[in-house]
Amino acid sequence: MDDQFMKRKLKENLQLYRLGRRVQNDSYHILGDKLNYVELSKTPLRSQIINFLLELMGKDAKYLEIGVRFPEQNFDKISSSNKYGVDPGLENKSNPVDFKLTSDEFFKRLREGKILDRSIKFDVIFIDGLHLADQVDRDIRNALDFLNDNGFILVHDCNPPSVFHTNEIQEYKLSPAKGFWNGTTWKAFFKYRQQNDLYSCCIDTDWGIGIISKKNKIGEPTGVKNPFFEYKILEKNRKESLNLISFEEFKKRLLNAKAKSF
Ligand SMILES: C[S@@+](CC[C@H](N)C(=O)[O-])C[C@H]1O[C@@H](n2cnc3c(N)ncnc32)[C@H](O)[C@@H]1O
Repeated sequence: MDDQFMKRKLKENLQLYRLGRRVQNDSYHILGDKLNYVELSKTPLRSQIINFLLELMGKDAKYLEIGVRFPEQNFDKISSSNKYGVDPGLENKSNPVDFKLTSDEFFKRLREGKILDRSIKFDVIFIDGLHLADQVDRDIRNALDFLNDNGFILVHDCNPPSVFHTNEIQEYKLSPAKGFWNGTTWKAFFKYRQQNDLYSCCIDTDWGIGIISKKNKIGEPTGVKNPFFEYKILEKNRKESLNLISFEEFKKRLLNAKAKSF
């Protein structure tokens, strides 16, 4: 190696070091770390909420999970003898799921009667596939067609803690969100939060578990106006936009609504 090369390498390393220090001391990165820590400390986990609802729906309740990745992180924890997973296997090569398909292809084949039974109604559907609004919108729309009237759709990642978590590019890891990615899921959930024939809320845990129901009065539609789905407006009106509540409050509402319907 000649001197010139060594000098250039040293200069490059110094620049990288300075850049690293800048990132380390950057206020957005510091805030990002804090927000990740807070979110990761929240309880309960998605699996506990799903199991609570499945138990409520009774024995043999049917469960569908869109986007499974590593089953041990959620799917395996779900207490149902009637559960199905859908995933094209983009993030886990072994992809041990029932249907190795995208959600669009799964619902298409289901409608065509090529898989399961086209008249099937699931009791709980957990949407956690591709976190882009357009895809989540289609997943919710399709899920509504195959949902028991008393059932629940759960949507993961509805409560992004900062705008950096809502990046459309999952691969970009240098942002203050680090590797955590909620994408634009909240926009699809917010769209259904405005629909008058549905009830919805979002449990403030595990990056926001949005819940939608046709019959269970878990929350009225939002009146927040955000026609261009802007993050700043979500941030200012987070509670009302998402109907953000604790799991305890959710259980209270649900049991209240059930008691009134008897
Ligand atoms: C965040 S992970 C799922 C995590 C899992 N549900 C859990 O709770 O631990 C997202 C998964 O969605 C899958 N995915 C990506 N695009 C998809 C699509 N169009 N349809 C269904 N799944 C998709 C990916 O392959 C990945 O495994």
